[in-house]
Formats: sequence, C-alpha cells, structure tokens
Amino acid sequence: MVLRWRDKMKVDGGVIDADHRHLLDIINRFENFAADGLTLDEGLEILFALKFYAATHFKREEGLQLRVNYPHYEAHKKQHAELLDQLTAIIEALRGGAGAPLDQVARETSALLQHWLMDHVLKSDLKMKAFVKAMHGDGPPLDELSAIDMPG
Ligand SMILES: [Fe+2]
Ligand SMILES: [Fe+2]
Repeated sequence: MVLRWRDKMKVDGGVIDADHRHLLDIINRFENFAADGLTLDEGLEILFALKFYAATHFKREEGLQLRVNYPHYEAHKKQHAELLDQLTAIIEALRGGAGAPLDQVARETSALLQHWLMDHVLKSDLKMKAFVKAMHGDGPPLDELSAIDMPG
C-alpha cells in the first residue's frame, strides 16, 4: 500500500509538513522495494536515507517545540529517540539476514515503517499544531495553551 499525503496531516503549513511528506516519500520507496523484490543493498540504502532524514527532521521538530514552549517536549523527544532505535534495529536485522526470505522481511518492514510514520505524525506531531498556530498569532496565546494539560 502506498501512503498518500492528506491535509489532515498538516502540522505547520511549512517545513515540518515538507519533512513529513519527504519521509512519506522515502517510506513509499521502501514499499516499492518490497513489492518489486529489489536487492538487499537497495533496501538498505533506502533505510539509511530514512534514518538520516528522520534524525534531521526530529532535531528540527524538537527545535520548533522549544520555540513554542511545547509542554510535552521531553516525552516527544523520547519518542523520537525510540523511533530511531527501532529503525537501527530494523537495519541491523536486515543486514544480519535474519533467516526469513528477503521479500517477506521487506513486506513486514514496509508495513512497520508505514505504521511508524503515520502513528507518530497523527497521534503525536499533530498535537503541536495549536502551539505553532499560536506562534504565528493565529489562535489562543501560547501561555494559555501551555497551561492546558494534554497527553504527550
Ligand atoms: Fe515528532
Ligand atoms: Fe514529525
């Protein structure tokens, strides 16, 4: 299944959305890899690109959270670190040739990555939306928002 960008995924109407679209594109590339049965090296190359871009994006997003005094910064940062650890584990498992046929591993990895991205963007990143809006002077002031207790 190829992931499609939807407006409901919009967080900031700017660089964060552009990052998410790019991450989605990389994961779709992996999905094509899984469907077409390309080589392990090609699959790993995509995963390395994903890891590099995800790390860059996470830093950018955390920087934005600090600027808007996001109250769940620490918890969110921890989620990012866990996602990168998971990605590292996936890469290591693929490299080690875990025994299962490559196409099966690729399909499972693809499903996991899709879940990984969509779940994080839709459940966690979207909670920043009100804070980013406030920073742009559109919505309630930031100090009021920070007083609202929302789960991280
Ligand atoms: Fe995030
Ligand atoms: Fe994000």
